Amino acid sequence: MSKPTPPTAPRCVGLLTSGGDAPGMNAAVRAATMLLHAQGCRVLGVQQGYSGLLEGRFRPLEPGDVDEIIREGGTILGSSRCLKFMERQGRDRARERIRDAGMDGLIVIGGNGSLAGAAALCDPDELGDLDLSVVGIPASIDNDIGLTGMAIGVDTAMNTIVEACDRICDTASAHDRTFLVEVMGRDCGYLAMTSAIATAANAVLFPEAGKSMDDLVESVVRAVTAVQQRTVRSKRVLVIMAEGTDVPAQRLQAPIEARLREVLEGDPANVETRVTVLGHVVRGGRPSAFDRLLASRMGRVAVQALLAGESCKMVSWLLPGELPAAIARRSDADPYCWLVDLDAVLQETGRMLDGTSSLIQWRKKALADVEEVLTL
Ligand code: F6P
Repeated sequence: MSKPTPPTAPRCVGLLTSGGDAPGMNAAVRAATMLLHAQGCRVLGVQQGYSGLLEGRFRPLEPGDVDEIIREGGTILGSSRCLKFMERQGRDRARERIRDAGMDGLIVIGGNGSLAGAAALCDPDELGDLDLSVVGIPASIDNDIGLTGMAIGVDTAMNTIVEACDRICDTASAHDRTFLVEVMGRDCGYLAMTSAIATAANAVLFPEAGKSMDDLVESVVRAVTAVQQRTVRSKRVLVIMAEGTDVPAQRLQAPIEARLREVLEGDPANVETRVTVLGHVVRGGRPSAFDRLLASRMGRVAVQALLAGESCKMVSWLLPGELPAAIARRSDADPYCWLVDLDAVLQETGRMLDGTSSLIQWRKKALADVEEVLTL
């Protein structure tokens, strides 16, 4: 960071958090603010995501403003899901505000929609003569962003789920009861899959598997009957379910109980199930040490990229193998990070959503193998 900055390097950088807040966003804001100040740049915090960008709601950020925020969940800048920014007219309005403020660099910290906004904002066909470089940092508890191994917030969310399930398992064990725990993740099963392994769950239901209602019910019934056959003290059953699964947990409860009544021949103690929907509990809270570190390192790489004159890129974390040089290069600032073209990120995110991504195929296959083991 001590190298002299090239002439195209931004001198006034905006920081924006957008979409669903994620624990660790503040750590990224803190790292970027401090590192930019160290390089003599002005830093402007954009309030309330793209809504604030449209309205020119900016406030100067000094190192003293961000000193203590590393341990805070949510985002001190505020966030929003801004539909107006999806339209060209909205983006042009934001560009006027950017020009008025003399902002020539922007770091967008957020998930899929936020990164799509970042890509549209730096689209050369729309930029005209505006001198603006944009770099994205992936932050979403869902881990559904293409071409990055991890996004900020995932680790904390996973730990929150694990802690909640450990508590639920106390009651489940005491009563030999089946619990269905629904966790956030939008259309992505990652949080459900990983926390199922980390909690020794008996089954996991997620959208990528594409199971019908009957198949979902059978998966749970299979898990319950397998546990009933075990010669163990506790007959607790923990099923973790992703919120994006076709049928919500609450609607599965009655069909599961009906089927268990048939299979277990009416023993009410083992038929009764309970549903817990963790909801937004999963998204809040103090960031884990890993998320603080990930966010700080990504913040550093984003600053370095902007100062090196990069634009329309996203910072990516530790992917297996190499990425094609046409769309990505390893960061000079951190060997665990890559700088990937935002367009390539959005394309891969689309493939993750429609299930054609090789990563999603692998997750599906790995979890199918796990399912066999869980019911042993
Ligand atoms: O993308 C993060 C996330 O928490 C998803 O897991 C969830 O589906 C969604 O946001 C909820 O959004 P909102 O807070 O707008 O209801």
